Amino acid sequence: MDIATTRDLAAARGGAESGAPAPAFPIPEGVHAETVLEVEHYSPRVFSFRITRPASFRFRSGEFVMLGLPNAPKPVFRAYSITTPSWDDGLGFYSIKVPDGPLTRHLQKIRRGDTVLIRRKATGSLVLDALLPGRRLWLFATGTGIAPFASLVRDPETYEKFDQVVLTNTCREAAELAFGDRLAVEVEQDPLVGEFARGRMTYYSTVTREPYERTGRITDLIASGRLFTDLGLPPIDPAQDRAMICGSMAMIRDTRALMEGFGLVEGSNHEPGSFVVERAFVD
Ligand code: A2P
Repeated sequence: MDIATTRDLAAARGGAESGAPAPAFPIPEGVHAETVLEVEHYSPRVFSFRITRPASFRFRSGEFVMLGLPNAPKPVFRAYSITTPSWDDGLGFYSIKVPDGPLTRHLQKIRRGDTVLIRRKATGSLVLDALLPGRRLWLFATGTGIAPFASLVRDPETYEKFDQVVLTNTCREAAELAFGDRLAVEVEQDPLVGEFARGRMTYYSTVTREPYERTGRITDLIASGRLFTDLGLPPIDPAQDRAMICGSMAMIRDTRALMEGFGLVEGSNHEPGSFVVERAFVD
């Protein structure tokens, strides 16, 4: 650990009171300074990290929060979905690495012990409260859009509200599926939700830019009906199916059109519906 990191860590743990040197830039108002606990790189394009959780921080599974770095007087903040469930004592995130991205070009270099800034309030529309009651929950993710679903599939409330949960994960390359592949295994083994998830959470992964056991955009697999035949499930029925969508703007637009074609109606926190959408963080 280098000197700057040690100083940041001390600042994050209340260094001002303990007499440690002040961080290079003051922590802005309304922001918590938290410590990086672990970082994992899956491919040249994606990585995940986990930080300490402020004692007062509350959120609903599926929500996002604004993250930044203490590297400027006015740090750049970007929206990040929380990947960990609300009962976890840490906070997890999953990020793209954009070479010239205002935040991710720096964030991709964080290491254990570094400081990450987090704003106090979590928000978002990919929450169970924004959906009307139903039997089956479809979670459609592309790229880092799987992040909010990592929280939701580990929340016992998801299984109280739905008999079956289907998580789809589509990425450009197979290496980028790793975060979701591992999640699917860990959910079943989880001491808290494993017994609810086993046999009721189905994981469906596809790749679009290299050979893989299953290929194709999720939108094409929905439109052709292949998704439903592969899973042995009937097509989406507005009487019992609910959906959440998270990916790029284009993916959301196209998947939304397909859901509307099945008769699903978009909902929000204020007015629950049969599906909800959120854009994945991109830079
Ligand atoms: P593709 O490789 O055909 O572009 P990204 O990392 O760019 O967000 O892409 C993640 C995944 O989302 C890729 O597999 C990509 O497929 C897919 N994708 C991109 N645009 C759409 C869209 N409009 N509808 C469905 N999937 C999409």
